[in-house]
Amino acid sequence: MSFTDTFTPHSSYLFFDDEPPHYPDPSSNAHPSNAADALGDADIFADPELHPDIRWSTWPFVEKLQRGPQPYPVWLVTEAAALDTELGILKTGKEADVHLIERAVPGDPHKAVQLAAKRYRSADDRAFRRDSSYTEGRKVKKSRDQRAITNRKSEYGRAVKSGAWAWAEFSALSRLYTAGAPVPYPVQIDDTEILMEFIGEDGVAAPRLAQARPSAALLQDYWHQLRTAMGVFARLGWAHGDLSPYNTLAHGDRLVIIDVPQVVDLAASPFATQFLHRDCVNMCTWFNARGLNADPDVLFAEVLAEAW
Ligand SMILES: Nc1ncnc2c1ncn2[C@@H]1O[C@H](COP(=O)(O)OP(=O)(O)OP(=O)(O)O)[C@@H](O)[C@H]1O
Ligand SMILES: [Mg+2]
Repeated sequence: MSFTDTFTPHSSYLFFDDEPPHYPDPSSNAHPSNAADALGDADIFADPELHPDIRWSTWPFVEKLQRGPQPYPVWLVTEAAALDTELGILKTGKEADVHLIERAVPGDPHKAVQLAAKRYRSADDRAFRRDSSYTEGRKVKKSRDQRAITNRKSEYGRAVKSGAWAWAEFSALSRLYTAGAPVPYPVQIDDTEILMEFIGEDGVAAPRLAQARPSAALLQDYWHQLRTAMGVFARLGWAHGDLSPYNTLAHGDRLVIIDVPQVVDLAASPFATQFLHRDCVNMCTWFNARGLNADPDVLFAEVLAEAW
């Protein structure tokens, strides 16, 4: 079994089964006329010339398969009348930039939520840090896509590859969230952009675990949360593959694991146990430095036992 089983091209509206088929092309930034009537001035805000940082919510435009798992969280804003406003960049990375956006219905304070938008680079200037040792054992459904990925010179190949990482991360987040892992809720995927639950408060992202200095009691609790979380990954047959105190956020007393496009299939990938062991070493090094006696080999054995 591979998470790329759910990989699907998403440019068509074939699965558009629960919305009326009258939404316009999102790239035009035009708005469904019936909602526009009700909104009045909101049309002005979504004018890309006047307000380039504001767009209509992309939720109505994405297919059901591009949305996160149901039941949808109560905080999710699904109204077609909502606007997405860019609030700034949270982090620029080698492969993706993470932006903060607000999705809100103008004039309704109860219909507003902050989201993290992870936007994969359009591959041209992207370093392919996550190489074939991660993708070994994965399937890509369309043979044209497979050939394109193999041929890195092709434009299409690069686009497929950055889109494939976004889909890989979205699919993995969906499975992990449903299985109860502490990961951000994946709201939707659109091309190379993933919108997900923002982990933080009032526009301030939770610190990475690397920056956290928890009390002894909280450290012990974090350790328990980490082992439980790694167990959920393992029961799905996966290792995170790039787990570290930098890909773990310390949201108050809760750990949240992020950055999962490269999850490795413990059964299918020949490198998976090496990745899992490295994950254990990375995390135990941090816990040891904070004064907790954490043995990576014991953690490795414990997690691996969950997988079978
Ligand atoms: N859901 C989120 N909520 C809050 N902050 C987030 C979220 N997702 C990502 N971030 C912030 O953006 C940073 C980069 O995210 P992520 O690790 O997923 O991307 P990346 O491209 O792999 O970056 P890097 O190369 O630095 O690992 C995180 O360290 C975190 O600070
Ligand atoms: Mg990261």
